Amino acid sequence: MRTDGSALPTGFWAPTEDETRLLLHRAGRTPVFVYGRAALRAAVDRVRAASLPGAHIYYSLKANPHPGVVTALTPLVDGFDVCSLAELETALNSGMPAARTLFTGPAKTRAEAAAALAAGAALTVESPGQARLMAEVADELGVAGRAVVRLNTPYPGRGPGSPPSPHQFGVAEADLGEVVDVLRRSALTLRGLHLFFGSQYADADVIRAARRAALERARDVEARYGLKLAFVSVGGGIALPWCAADPDVDWAGLTAPEDGPLPWGDHGDQTVVAEYGRSIAGPAGVLLTSVLDVKTVGDRRYVVVDAGINHLFTAGRLVAGRDRGEPLVRAVGTARPDRPVDRAYVTGPLCSQLDVLAEDVPLPPVAVGDTLMFLGVGAYGPTFSPSGFLSRDQAGEIVH
Ligand SMILES: Cc1ncc(COP(=O)(O)O)c(C=O)c1O
Repeated sequence: MRTDGSALPTGFWAPTEDETRLLLHRAGRTPVFVYGRAALRAAVDRVRAASLPGAHIYYSLKANPHPGVVTALTPLVDGFDVCSLAELETALNSGMPAARTLFTGPAKTRAEAAAALAAGAALTVESPGQARLMAEVADELGVAGRAVVRLNTPYPGRGPGSPPSPHQFGVAEADLGEVVDVLRRSALTLRGLHLFFGSQYADADVIRAARRAALERARDVEARYGLKLAFVSVGGGIALPWCAADPDVDWAGLTAPEDGPLPWGDHGDQTVVAEYGRSIAGPAGVLLTSVLDVKTVGDRRYVVVDAGINHLFTAGRLVAGRDRGEPLVRAVGTARPDRPVDRAYVTGPLCSQLDVLAEDVPLPPVAVGDTLMFLGVGAYGPTFSPSGFLSRDQAGEIVH
C-alpha cells in the first residue's frame, strides 16, 4: 500500500520481510540501498513495450551509475547514455560496446571529448562552440568520431494545455546551420540527432506527441541539410511515480499501437533510440534505514533514522513533499494489528531542517533498531545527494 493507502505504482519492487532480514545482514549496515535484478529486468521490458516499435532502449547512467546495476542492465538494454569520464568507464567496463555508448551533456571538456573519441563512443554536440572543440579534438587525436547533434526542444507541458518550458540544452535552431558546417569540415561524422524532451511525464498523449514531433523534426532537419542520419534519440520521459500524489504512468496508453507509420526510421540502417533513467532504475530500488530515535515534540511524532537527504536528497523538502505528496515508506517487520497506525515525521541525522524524508505519513509504532523501507528510490539516490554535508558515511548499495 502507498502511504496514502492506494496500491503501489506499477512495477515497484520491495523485498519480502524474510529477504529484507537477510539483506540487512548481507549489507552489514544501514542505510543501504538495495536494487533488485528481477525488477530491473521487468522495468526494461515495461519501457520497451511502452516505446516506439523497434526503438533501441538506452539506459542513462545518471539515474543510477552503481556498477552492479549497470552490469545487470548491460545484457538487457541496447546502449548506455553517459555524462562523465567515470560514467564512460563504468559503461565500458560493464561490457557495453563503445559503439552503443553515447556521451551526452551540455558542456564537455576537451578531456571528456578526447576520452569519448578515443574509446569510440558517440558524442552529442550542444552548441557551435562545442562543435568546434570536438572537431579540434578529433583532429588532434587523428580519429574519425561520431557526432550526434542535440537540438534544443522546449519541454512540453505536463498535461494537455500546459505550456512548454524553455531550457539551456542543445543547439538553438538559429545555430544549427553553423554546427552542421563545422562538423562537415571536421573528421567527425554527423550520425544522428538527439531530441530529449524532458523527464517525469505520466501522460501517454504528451509522451507520444513529443516523440512523434521529435521524429518529424529529425526528418525535416535531414531534408533541409541534406543529411543521412543513422540515429535519432527521441528521449524517454517516462515518469517515476514515487511520491504519494504522483499520478501513475499511463502504461496502457503508451503500449497502444501507433497511429500510422513513423515519420522517420523506416529503413533497416536507421535506429530510433529511447533513453530512460528513472523509469528503469527507480522502481527497482529500496532504501533500508534504521530507526535511531523516536520522540514526540508538541503534537508531532518524530521517527529519526540513519538515512538523510545526504543519501536521498530527492526525498527532502526541496524535491518531494508539497504538491507531490510524500515518498512511499513502510515499517519492516513491525506489523502489529493490535497497535494503531499513527502519523509520523521521518527525519534524518543531519543538522538541517531540510532533513525530513517523509512528512506526516501513516506509520505503525516503531522503536529504536527497527527498520524502515523507502520504495521506488532506485534512481537519483546517492549520486544526486549532497553526500559531503557533515562528512557522514555514504549509504551502502547492493544488488539482489
Ligand atoms: C539527456 C538526458 N537523457 C536521459 C535522461 C534521463 O531521464 P529520466 O531519468 O527522466 O528517464 C536525462 C535526465 O535528465 C537527460 O537529461
